[in-house]
Amino acid sequence: MRAATLIAVLGLALAGGAVITSVNAAPEGSAPGAATPAPVPLKAAATFLSIKDPAARSAALFQEAGKVIESPRCMNCHPVERRPTQGDDLHPHNPPVAGGQSGHGVPGLPCLSCHGPANVPTWGEKIQSIPGDPKWALAPVEMAWQGKSLGQICAQIKDPARNGGKTLDQIHHHMAEDSLVGWGWNPGAGRSPAPGTQAQFGQIIRAWIDTGAKCPKA
Ligand code: HEC
Ligand code: HEC
Repeated sequence: MRAATLIAVLGLALAGGAVITSVNAAPEGSAPGAATPAPVPLKAAATFLSIKDPAARSAALFQEAGKVIESPRCMNCHPVERRPTQGDDLHPHNPPVAGGQSGHGVPGLPCLSCHGPANVPTWGEKIQSIPGDPKWALAPVEMAWQGKSLGQICAQIKDPARNGGKTLDQIHHHMAEDSLVGWGWNPGAGRSPAPGTQAQFGQIIRAWIDTGAKCPKA
C-alpha cells in the first residue's frame, strides 16, 4: 500500500472510531466486541426432490438460491447506480465512491486504495474490518440486482447478453468456485455471512440448472 493511501485509510478508520492493527494481527471475528450474528442456514439441494415436477422444482431451487443472491453481501456490489452500498441496510458507501467505467473505481480513487487482497481487521467497534479480495470491483451495470425481483435477476443471470457471455455451466462455476463470490461467506468481522455455505449454494445452482434453470414468477 502506498503511504498516501495508508494515511487515507487510517484517517477513514479513525473517523469511524477504528484503529488499524496489522493485516494478520487478529484472526477473523476476534476483534473486541465482535458480535457477528448467527449464520442463516440454507436447505440442502436434495430436500427439493420431494417436488416431483422438474420445472416447479427448478423454480423452487432458484428461490432458495435467492436467499444468498439477495443477501446484503452480494447486493452491495450489484447496485443499479454506479456506486456500491454498505451494511445490511444497503446504505450508500461511506465515503462516496464511484465504480467508474471498469468497476474498479475512478482515477485517483480506485477501490484497491482501501480494499486490499484480503479482509483487514481493525480495532474499531463501528467498523470492525475492511473487506478485501484480489478481484474487488463493482459489478457491471447489466449485472445490477438491487431493486429487481428475484424472477428478473434469474432471467438476467441466464442471459449471455447480460451475464458476461457465460454459459450456465460457467455460471455454476462462478457461483460455486469464484473467490469474490466466496467472500460472501468470509466477509470479515462485523458482517453477517451469506446463508449456508458456498458449497451448498453451488449444489443448489447445479440442481437448478439440471432441472431446466426455470425462474420464479416474481
Ligand atoms: C466486491 C464486489 C462484489 C461482491 C461482494 C459480489 N460480486 Fe458478483 N460480481 C462482481 C463483479 C465485478 C462481477 C463481474 C466480473 C466477473 O464476472 O467476475 C460480478 C459478477 C457476478 C456474476 C456473473 C454474472 C451475473 O449474471 O451477474 C454472478 C452470478 C455473481 N457476481 C454472483 C455473486 C454472488 C452470489 C455474490 C454474493 C455471494 C456476489 N456476486 C458478490 C462483484 C461482486
Ligand atoms: C476510501 C476508502 C474506500 C474506497 C476507495 C472504497 N471503499 Fe468500499 N469500503 C470501505 C470501508 C472502510 C468499508 C467498510 C465499511 C463498513 O463496514 O461499514 C467498505 C465497504 C464496502 C462494501 C460493503 C461490504 C458489505 O457487504 O457491507 C462494498 C460493497 C464496497 N466497499 C465496495 C467498494 C467498491 C466497489 C469500491 C470501488 C469502486 C470501493 N468500495 C472503494 C472503504 C473504501
